[in-house]
Amino acid sequence: MGRREGPWLYDLNEEKRLFNCHSNGGVFNLGHRNTEIMNALKEGLETLDIGNHHLMSQHRADLAKQLTESMPGDLEVCIFGVGGGEAVDLALKLAMGHTGRGTIISAQGGYHGHTGLALAVGDAHYRDPFGIHSPEMLQVPFNDVASLEASMSDAVAAVILETIPATLGMVMPEPGYLEKVREICDAHGALLIMDEVQTGLGRTGKLWGFEHANIQPDMVIIGKGLSGGIYPISATIIREALNRIFEEDPFIHISTFGGSELGCRVGQEVLRISAQPEFLNRVNSAALALRSQLDGLQQKYPKFFKGIRQTGLMIGLELKDEYAGPALTKAGYDHDLLVVYANNDTSVVQFLVPLTITDDEIEWVIRKLDKAMNSARKLRSALKLKSKADGLKDRLSRD
Ligand SMILES: Cc1ncc(COP(=O)(O)O)c(C=O)c1O
Repeated sequence: MGRREGPWLYDLNEEKRLFNCHSNGGVFNLGHRNTEIMNALKEGLETLDIGNHHLMSQHRADLAKQLTESMPGDLEVCIFGVGGGEAVDLALKLAMGHTGRGTIISAQGGYHGHTGLALAVGDAHYRDPFGIHSPEMLQVPFNDVASLEASMSDAVAAVILETIPATLGMVMPEPGYLEKVREICDAHGALLIMDEVQTGLGRTGKLWGFEHANIQPDMVIIGKGLSGGIYPISATIIREALNRIFEEDPFIHISTFGGSELGCRVGQEVLRISAQPEFLNRVNSAALALRSQLDGLQQKYPKFFKGIRQTGLMIGLELKDEYAGPALTKAGYDHDLLVVYANNDTSVVQFLVPLTITDDEIEWVIRKLDKAMNSARKLRSALKLKSKADGLKDRLSRD
């Protein structure tokens, strides 16, 4: 990556320019080097530094107030971290400490980071090479109420879910699913943690993705986009009642760099921009415009482009098979688009354009995506023919 600006990034030699249709999972929701965010950071640099985690801080308090006021009910306490995994670790640790229970349930193929407890509740693929086995961490298929009911018990401290599991391929929660999860948690005294690292801050057309469901989580995880793509910061928002552990001992959990004051200054600006009704309206109208164009592409390439998973600008392109995602990622690059396939379901391409995308940019991106789809489709057919030919060669040599 060389120069970067708005939705664009260039290679080091300025020979290649890519439109960022991945936004690093939401880090670049507001584009690269957004002017308002840059100005907030520059202004912060006049007087601030990281701050001191032993002392109270006006800037941390201001951002915490802004964040908790944007949440429903008594999600009134905010603890800052540096990255998403750290914020998830804190939530899981707190769930165990609060309930005195040791089991966590998460979604198969979900992703919450690569730190300690976040890794433990993630896919085995990322744990096995390190020999990390966590028998108390149970996994159930997303959208499967019966499996959740079967795994639920009074030993469960919490259920943690991404509101829309991104690494699993942007699987949309079925209507009523999250409400049912909330009900099952309540019946067993388990907490519900919503991971909004990718879905938060306007990505789905509402400020928080869980607002599409009629639920009140016990904890909410925020990361990526809060940084404005400029200064790492994450947050775990918890209900008032969960604060007891910290009231008893404020130093029971510490993050030296978590909630750095410069990061808070940036986070305040991100939230100010993203919570504006006009901003969210624009996300929704861009989502509609993209949808009609994507529908057109799906009609054009029905055998390759199977479906569109979408809430707002949280979009997954569902393709023909597990090789199609990598093929479109490569073809996208060749046609000046940065798109990335979902790691835990490679038949889906994550399509996360910056929330600031304009109508002209939508037209441009769709023209390029059309070409990329056509190339990827041909690449897949060629590979399929090759594997058929290889199979035939194999059989002939055996005969
Ligand atoms: C949904 C979700 N949760 C948590 C994380 C972990 O965040 P970080 O990489 O900042 O630790 C990620 C990162 O991709 C994520 O997508």
